Amino acid sequence: MRTVVIAGGTRGIGRALAASIDANVIALGSADADLTSMRQTRELIDRLPDRIDTLILSAGRFSRRRIVTDEGHERTFAIGALARHLLADGLRPALERSPNPMILNLCGVGGIRAGHLHWDDLTLTRGYSLFAATMQVARANDLLGAGFADRYPGSPIRYVLYNPLFVDSGMHRNFDQPMRAVIGGAARLFGESTTRAAARLKPLLDAPPTAPLTALRRGRPVPLPDSTDAARLYDVIQPTQK
Ligand SMILES: NC(=O)c1ccc[n+]([C@@H]2O[C@H](COP(=O)([O-])OP(=O)(O)OC[C@H]3O[C@@H](n4cnc5c(N)ncnc54)[C@H](OP(=O)(O)O)[C@@H]3O)[C@@H](O)[C@H]2O)c1
Repeated sequence: MRTVVIAGGTRGIGRALAASIDANVIALGSADADLTSMRQTRELIDRLPDRIDTLILSAGRFSRRRIVTDEGHERTFAIGALARHLLADGLRPALERSPNPMILNLCGVGGIRAGHLHWDDLTLTRGYSLFAATMQVARANDLLGAGFADRYPGSPIRYVLYNPLFVDSGMHRNFDQPMRAVIGGAARLFGESTTRAAARLKPLLDAPPTAPLTALRRGRPVPLPDSTDAARLYDVIQPTQK
């Protein structure tokens, strides 16, 4: 039976996926490891099985206020980019023991408009906003996917960047009022249910694409991200992972 690890598998899209997959599912939430901490992320990697077929990166948390972790990272970036990088690279050997390995990164590829990295201020000390932090993480994930495919050209791992678009996942619970009510109401009206979002993803999990890197928006292919800055991001991220 396949082993599927879902970082962010306790709520939202990750939880709906965990409930719908016929596999040995390891659904992880913040009670298993705080993925804003690189130390806890590394310890989690050491606890996971030495063969994994699919790694799903679905953990994220957004905030209207700028929060800096004990390790000095802006929280959105820590959980949304640094931990994802660490999980993908750290679990690569376990994934490469599978005959058909895949990393599915639920992110913002092909979103409303391309985000950008604040190279001289990645922790967003100047001009933090929920939008700036979210868009920075979206762009970082594009680069993480492109960088992974570039760094490990002979790897059997297929890396899939997937933007589910608007899903009524309950993520509005992370916000204070009145934002909670606004986002919750909009999600109920315009968002897709988590069950439907998971159903769209299931064929992808059953039959991973053959290309090393694929970018999809709600199942539809979108152009692959430009990987120009992927190596630059890797150079910035690597020292933060120690
Ligand atoms: N929902 C959308 O409309 C939408 C649109 C585009 C992209 N996406 C992306 O899709 C992914 C899943 O979205 P979602 O809406 O399903 O998310 P969600 O409902 O907010 O669930 C987030 C998951 O992340 C985990 N998590 C949060 N903080 C954590 C921490 N510090 N350490 C470890 N795990 C932590 C949560 O676990 P606990 O509950 O146990 O803390 C939960 O399982 C996200 O990365 C998001 O960016 C979502």
